[in-house]
Amino acid sequence: MVAYWYCPRCGFREDFDKAYYWKCPRCGSPLKIVFEGRYEVSKEKGLARYKTLLPLTPLKYIGEGSTPLVKSVENGVEVWFKLEYLNPSGSFKDRGTSLALTYARKMGFKTVVDDSSGNTAISISLYSHIYGLKPIMFIPRTAPEGKKRMLRFLGAELYESVDRGAASRDVVDFVEKNPGVFYVAHTWSYFYILGAATIAYEVFEEAGVPDYVIAPIGSGGLILGLAQGFKTLLEQALTTKMPKIIGVQGYSVQPVSIALKGIETPGEASDLADGIMVPNPPRLTEIVDAIRESQGDVYLVGNSEIRSACNKLVEEGFLVEPTSAAPYAVLEKLKQKIQGKTVLIPLTGSGLKIIH
Ligand SMILES: Cc1ncc(COP(=O)(O)O)c(C=O)c1O
Ligand SMILES: [Zn+2]
Repeated sequence: MVAYWYCPRCGFREDFDKAYYWKCPRCGSPLKIVFEGRYEVSKEKGLARYKTLLPLTPLKYIGEGSTPLVKSVENGVEVWFKLEYLNPSGSFKDRGTSLALTYARKMGFKTVVDDSSGNTAISISLYSHIYGLKPIMFIPRTAPEGKKRMLRFLGAELYESVDRGAASRDVVDFVEKNPGVFYVAHTWSYFYILGAATIAYEVFEEAGVPDYVIAPIGSGGLILGLAQGFKTLLEQALTTKMPKIIGVQGYSVQPVSIALKGIETPGEASDLADGIMVPNPPRLTEIVDAIRESQGDVYLVGNSEIRSACNKLVEEGFLVEPTSAAPYAVLEKLKQKIQGKTVLIPLTGSGLKIIH
C-alpha cells in the first residue's frame, strides 16, 4: 500500500516509509497518513480484520480490538455499549498504540517516549514489552496512584510533571535533547485516529450505524477516529447514514466546548475524569469541524454526575473508570430528546486501574 505523511495546512508530503514525523516539520501542525483503501472484512480478529483501511497491521496480536458490543434499552433509548476497557491494557488506547509501536519497530527505533494522563502510558508500556521497545513516560504528578504503580510494574522509566500541561512541555524538551527516541505524541498522532476508526468498523459490521455516538474528548483521537470511521463507510457508499457525534468534556477543562460555543460554561469541578483533562488539544479545529459536520454537539459534566454515572455503570456490570462514565452522564441529560434512537457509547477505560 502506498502511504504518505501529509500536512493539510501547508501541503508538506513525504513517503510513510521514509521517515517519522510526530508533527509537520515545516509548519508544526498535526499530520495525516494518506492512503487508498476500501472497506473489506478479513477473517482475522482485531485490527487486522480491517487491514485494507490501515497503512500497517499490529506486529503481534495480543487481543486488541474485536471488543464486545452490549445492547441495553434504557428509558426508550437503545444504548450500544462498546466494551473498550476489555482491551489488553484496559483501554481503547491499545488500538492506536499497536499501530504506532509497530511503526516504531519497523523504522528501527529502540526507545519510545510519551506524555499521558495514565492510560496511554500504560498501553505504550505494555506494548513496548511485547514489541521489544524501551518505554519512557511523562505523566502528571496527580495521576491516580494505581496507574503509576502499574507503569512501574511494566518497567517504564517514569517522570512526574506538575500537571498534564507540564508533562506535554517536559516531554518535548526531552525529545529535543534525545533525538534518537520515538516520540509517540499520541495527542497529535494519526495512528490513534486510525486505531479508533476500527471501533466504528466493528460496530458497523456487527450492528450497523447508530443514530448517535457519545464519547469523551481529551486530545480527540477517539472522537476523530469514530467520526472518520463512520465517514469512511458513508463515503464508500456502505451506508447512507452518519451518526451525530456528541463530545463530552468536564467543566474544569473544556477547550472544545469553548471553541464550539465561543464562551466558557461555568460548572462543578470535573477532575474525576482525569483522562479528559487536556487543555490544548493539538487537533482542536479538526474536532470542532467533525462535531459540526455530523450536526453533533458538546456537553459538559461535573464530578457528582460522573460519580453517579460510574456507580450506575458498575451496577450494570461495567467496571469502568470515571472518565469512561462521563458520556453515560450525558446520556442522562439527552434521554428525553433522543427517544427511540440508537446510541453508541464506547466504555473507554477499566475501573480496575483506579483501585488502590
Ligand atoms: C479512559 C479514557 N477515555 C477517554 C479518553 C479521551 O480520549 P482522547 O484523548 O482520544 O480524546 C482518554 C484519554 O486519555 C481516556 O484515558
Ligand atoms: Zn505543515
